[in-house]
Amino acid sequence: MGSKNKLRVAILASGGGTNLQSIIDQCQQGLLDVEISLVVSNNPDAGALQRAEQAGINNICINHREFDNREDFDQAVVAALKEVGTELVVLAGFMRIISEVFLLAFPQRIINVHPALLPAFPGLHVQQKAIEYGAKFSGCTVHLVDSGVDTGPIIAQAVVPIFTDDSEDTLAARILEQEHKIYPQVIQWFAERRVKVAGRQVQIINSKNVGLALINPPISTVK
Ligand code: GAR
Repeated sequence: MGSKNKLRVAILASGGGTNLQSIIDQCQQGLLDVEISLVVSNNPDAGALQRAEQAGINNICINHREFDNREDFDQAVVAALKEVGTELVVLAGFMRIISEVFLLAFPQRIINVHPALLPAFPGLHVQQKAIEYGAKFSGCTVHLVDSGVDTGPIIAQAVVPIFTDDSEDTLAARILEQEHKIYPQVIQWFAERRVKVAGRQVQIINSKNVGLALINPPISTVK
């Protein structure tokens, strides 16, 4: 794919930006047919802005505290994204709820990564919630954004075990490692125009059925 055909992606992040970094790294390695046209943060102190700056990527802070309401803030973000010709909006640790104004501006073109196996554990502090619940697996989900909180159609998931001695931090790190793998891949599938959405069903065109059952803790009764 020539550079003029690259998918124009905008990335929104509120925090440290390790997901942003994994996307930047894969772009720099030539693995993604993507141009990161803009990085936006609502948080002036976000590490994500520094990472964008360091990589020479156009970045801005639009501070939600300077707006009277969610719609006005979203309108400002949408205007910035439209100005650079954004084709796909990637939420990477963007801790704001997306309003109708934003959704209507990019129908089925906003994706998010969530650090749990949706529909289990939507919302916040989900690694701790999975541990407290006693779940044996957690993971991450990349999904399309809709008007609910973490409810949109699921595009891809990665599963990790939860160990009995896990803390919120050790589990979060294990999950994050997988986020860094599946999120850039999903973006590349969009770049290849392989993501087909029909209601809640998302299909990746030409992907194969492979995979194994996972059991935690390991069993010894059956080989
Ligand atoms: C990631 O674990 C992401 O899944 C989570 O925030 C973290 C951001 O890390 N997002 C959410 O919880 C969204 N509800 P990062 O800034 O290092 O990419």
